[in-house]
Amino acid sequence: MKTSGNTMLITGGGSGIGRELALRFNALGNTVIVAGRRMEPLEETIAGQHDMHAMALDVEDPTAITTFAERVVAEHSRLNVLINNAGIMRREDLTSTHDIIDAEQTIVTNLLGPIRLTNALTDHLVNQPYAAIVNVSSGLAFVPLSGTPTYNATKAAIHSYTISLREQLKGKVELIELAPPAVQTELTPGQSTREGYMPLNDYMEEVMTLFQKQPTPKEILVENVKFLRWAERDGHFDQAVEMLSKM
Ligand SMILES: NC(=O)c1ccc[n+]([C@@H]2O[C@H](COP(=O)([O-])OP(=O)(O)OC[C@H]3O[C@@H](n4cnc5c(N)ncnc54)[C@H](OP(=O)(O)O)[C@@H]3O)[C@@H](O)[C@H]2O)c1
Repeated sequence: MKTSGNTMLITGGGSGIGRELALRFNALGNTVIVAGRRMEPLEETIAGQHDMHAMALDVEDPTAITTFAERVVAEHSRLNVLINNAGIMRREDLTSTHDIIDAEQTIVTNLLGPIRLTNALTDHLVNQPYAAIVNVSSGLAFVPLSGTPTYNATKAAIHSYTISLREQLKGKVELIELAPPAVQTELTPGQSTREGYMPLNDYMEEVMTLFQKQPTPKEILVENVKFLRWAERDGHFDQAVEMLSKM
């Protein structure tokens, strides 16, 4: 993936990892469009920056995705990089029959959202030079955290879906998976100061160094996530599941 001269769309670009990706790619000489449900954090992200734009988008809403895709391509015809970063993470208690609204919303946002947005932009992207899609999964795609079962499942699905997309779009669109470890953001309440989670700035420094490698790694894996990413291969999967369960 080229690291400058792109026009990039980043969902969830108003906070956390998405906001940092947006600002850092913009600083490298990319036009960046940030999208999310709330305009206020998006406006804060782009404030005072050149070549940054904010657009409202709710990835839970299929009709909104279709309308948004048409608008973003009309306004930014050189769009060539999509970063599917928006996501939610909810705790779920599976020990009794319960309302599964959290599970349903998690699947719609984290899995159907990227599938629908990618689909809506595919015809455009395949005709763009240096086209790329970055899908944000998680270390929890590889070892589940038992308290967030549907979240883990959506991330495992995104990992698998990304591999299929990579094969089908070979030669037309480069597919990159970004699998973060636990990072200090507001993904869950209180997480931005939680001990043991990686400071956002440290995470982003490592991530941007990996993005600068040529060719870009298929999976952007910082050191901290490798314990989870390679747990099965390295024979410590059960130990990792147990370790996460105690967190
Ligand atoms: N932080 C971690 O420890 C960690 C670890 C592994 C993976 N990840 C992944 O990294 C990605 C970014 O998370 P983060 O940690 O940076 O948390 P975050 O700050 O909460 O970012 C999530 C972003 O997604 C947006 N979003 C949520 N629902 C949306 C919807 N329906 N439509 C459009 N945008 C939506 C939010 O903006 P609005 O609320 O304004 O819509 C927000 O800006 C997520 O996919 C997450 O699963 C994070």
